[in-house]
Amino acid sequence: MKSKSLISINDFTKEEQIQILDLASYFEKNQNQRIFENYVIATLFFEPSTRTRLSFESAVNRFGGKVIGFADTSSTSVQKGESLKDTILTVSNYSDLIVMRNPIEGSARFASEIAKVPVINAGDGSNQHPTQTLLDLFSIRQTQGTLDNLHIAFVGDLKYGRTVHSLVIALSNYNTTFYFVSPTELKLPSSVKMVIKEKKLTYYQSTNINDVMSQCDILYMTRIQRERFSGPLEYERVKDSYILHKEMLDNTKNNLKILHPLPRVNEISEDIDDTPQAYYFQQALNGVYVRQALIASILGVK
Ligand code: CP
Repeated sequence: MKSKSLISINDFTKEEQIQILDLASYFEKNQNQRIFENYVIATLFFEPSTRTRLSFESAVNRFGGKVIGFADTSSTSVQKGESLKDTILTVSNYSDLIVMRNPIEGSARFASEIAKVPVINAGDGSNQHPTQTLLDLFSIRQTQGTLDNLHIAFVGDLKYGRTVHSLVIALSNYNTTFYFVSPTELKLPSSVKMVIKEKKLTYYQSTNINDVMSQCDILYMTRIQRERFSGPLEYERVKDSYILHKEMLDNTKNNLKILHPLPRVNEISEDIDDTPQAYYFQQALNGVYVRQALIASILGVK
């Protein structure tokens, strides 16, 4: 994995993904490290973020590294018309690794092809979010003790949800049974469904969340993403499609855990936060350990 970029979850083999999860488990219990000293990591966020940017920066800082970058482009030369190519070539000179979020699909792959240092995709439009996938896999393994043969339900915006796309592709390696719950206009893209079909895995589609509650080990809730819609009317029509309430957890499996990449809007009612099923804030914390493991693997400093 040394010096490799991570743009799509398939850039790392199943074995490489597992190595990162194992290293993250080690780091979870061994935070007293200075292995990123002498390294500078650039975080370039062309699109808003709380968890991804701050957990990357926390991951680097906790292991003694330095962070440069921007949380938005308002104070950068992008405002003067500088191209992505020139920005990446410039920042390559200043850092050992670039973490980039950009609203344009394919921008992260482009950046990795021209950068002189490895690039990590922190989300490119509706395409992929592979580091979220690694922390989702880590969280699933933590809560279920395995990644194999699980029943996993995805609920919400499955069309634009890049975290869903990457995670479904990764879980196709583990004999997962999938349940997809979404409004008709926000169904999982056929390109992602094709991956499941090629692996001959079972999947079910529904518009009703109650169809899946009693069957799943993991309930992966997602936000309906206002920023991906072409107009407010289209968003208004579907924005409240799924709201998970505490009483909906009756008659679910004992091992059920609720994940959410966050941020949430209203799709998980706050009275669920204190239930044993809620795991989304721990999931966000797991992002620090997983990103430490990923950076260490790419820098070759584990
Ligand atoms: N999960 C996630 O990508 O969150 P942010 O948008 O806050 O980074």
